[in-house]
Amino acid sequence: MMKKILMTLVAATTLTLSLSGLAQAAANVKYQQECSSCHVAYPPGLLPAASWGRIMGSLNKHFGTDASLDESTTRDIGNWLQVNAGSGRRSEEPPQDRISKANWFVRQHDEVSSSTWKRASIGSAANCSACHAGAAKGDFNEHAVRIPK
Ligand code: HEC
Ligand code: HEC
Repeated sequence: MMKKILMTLVAATTLTLSLSGLAQAAANVKYQQECSSCHVAYPPGLLPAASWGRIMGSLNKHFGTDASLDESTTRDIGNWLQVNAGSGRRSEEPPQDRISKANWFVRQHDEVSSSTWKRASIGSAANCSACHAGAAKGDFNEHAVRIPK
């Protein structure tokens, strides 16, 4: 009897774990689909949860554009960003909730001059993939940086 109850418990826990794993994977797919049409889908670990919360709560006024999504997509992506948000040295809430305004970002990019940021091939510091070819995959390795002319 005890054994049977235990087995049922184990099965239920495994099912719950794999369901939440599936929900996470599905939310990741939605994030990649919905948040990569205007810029790379920024790695969630580059902003803290509070910043992601404000961004997902104001998609209709998103950095000068309307990036609204339906309610359930907004909720799923929002929850996923909360779970995967940055912590530790990535817990600073930068001005305007911009990765590109975080202190660590400014330090890492101090060798890029202000005229370089303005090149037509770059346009803005938010355009990570202009210089980091692997940005969409979350790869920002300094040895792979190529600044376009
Ligand atoms: C309709 C186009 C569009 C869509 C869709 C969109 N964004 Fe944006 N996003 C922008 C623009 C424009 C900027 C400002 C870019 C700039 O300053 O060069 C921006 C900037 C950002 C920034 C700040 C980048 C920085 O560090 O300066 C974050 C974070 C961000 N978006 C997250 C998201 C998330 C999350 C989604 C999906 C829910 C999303 N975006 C979907 C247009 C969009
Ligand atoms: C104008 C080109 C350019 C753009 C655009 C750019 N970066 Fe960088 N990035 C660099 C350079 C140059 C370095 C420093 C490489 C070095 O230290 O040799 C760097 C370094 C980094 C590093 C540190 C890498 C390491 O291995 O230490 C990270 C993380 C990073 N960038 C993230 C981003 C993110 C996120 C964005 C977009 C929000 C972005 N970058 C936009 C040029 C750029």
